[in-house]
Amino acid sequence: MKILVTGGAGFIASHITDAYIAAGHDVFVLDDLSTGKKENINPKSHFFEYDINDCEVFDLFKKEKFDVVNHHAAQMDIRISVKDPKADTITNVIGGLNIYEAAKAAGVKKIIFASSGGAVYGEQDYFPAEEAHPTNPCSPYGINKLVNEKYLFYYKQVYGLNYVALRYANVYGPRQNYLGEAGVVSIFINKMKCGEQPVINGDGMNSRDYVFVADVVRANVLALGDNAAGIYNIGTGIENDVNFVFNELKKLTGSNAEEFHGEAKAGEQRRSVISYKKIETELGWKPIMRFDEGLKLTADYFMNLK
Ligand SMILES: NC(=O)c1ccc[n+]([C@@H]2O[C@H](COP(=O)([O-])OP(=O)(O)OC[C@H]3O[C@@H](n4cnc5c(N)ncnc54)[C@H](O)[C@@H]3O)[C@@H](O)[C@H]2O)c1
Repeated sequence: MKILVTGGAGFIASHITDAYIAAGHDVFVLDDLSTGKKENINPKSHFFEYDINDCEVFDLFKKEKFDVVNHHAAQMDIRISVKDPKADTITNVIGGLNIYEAAKAAGVKKIIFASSGGAVYGEQDYFPAEEAHPTNPCSPYGINKLVNEKYLFYYKQVYGLNYVALRYANVYGPRQNYLGEAGVVSIFINKMKCGEQPVINGDGMNSRDYVFVADVVRANVLALGDNAAGIYNIGTGIENDVNFVFNELKKLTGSNAEEFHGEAKAGEQRRSVISYKKIETELGWKPIMRFDEGLKLTADYFMNLK
């Protein structure tokens, strides 16, 4: 298949690009390198340094006639979205629309979209949340992920453009950006590596469902299949609090940092954990990586990084 991966210089989508290329697909990467890195881009892909809002996107779609578009390019930091909801909307909603309009015009068969299983549900009524759980996002980022899902539903109803929206839990693993404010595992490891003090926001008892990037990649491979359609949670159904993650990483990195608590951040829910039963039943996906093993692999990766 001919596949365009947006955000393919970033953490998650660079791993997806690698897997698609390994499976024999012809892969194009579109990324503005705002948080992505050139060294993440698979050399066997065709790279275009565009913003998803650029009008050149339409020419690229018209010329290349992609079968599938895997849309991961986004402003992915909840706190930035709280500080500047308009900027978040320009990238995450208007940018998405530019991609979907170009896809519609060029006859793309399917869009795979990176949604968020933490942010679209907001504070959960029950645990773990399945896909039918009410969606009450508590950040502009979460609202905008949900808006994309609604647009994809619209494009399917009105134009027959197929889609899969994967609602990820907290993804972690090698290549995750540690310079921003999102991605607690990579941020803590890199602070510990440099002998700096990691800051736990709030009391550290807020919990998240941590899913390893290789498991997320397998879901994106399954999402290419004709039997994959609609919305799926991609998580583990297991929650861990931030203090636990901090202490596990301390052991793995040999750090002697003490727990240090800063202020809690707006826009973040207290507990977040999602059920993967739907995708397990329909597509046979389930998480394989145990959290302790995934943390070790991630810590080893960053500790050995020059
Ligand atoms: N990391 C997580 O835990 C998580 C959880 C749920 C959903 N997601 C979603 O998965 C996707 C990938 O996230 P990630 O963690 O790999 O982040 P990332 O920042 O590493 O990747 C995003 C990529 O998009 C590119 N990009 C940003 N704005 C762009 C624009 N306007 N035009 C073109 N490219 C642009 C960046 O340069 C980067 O390479 C995002 O859509 C994010 O919202 C991530």
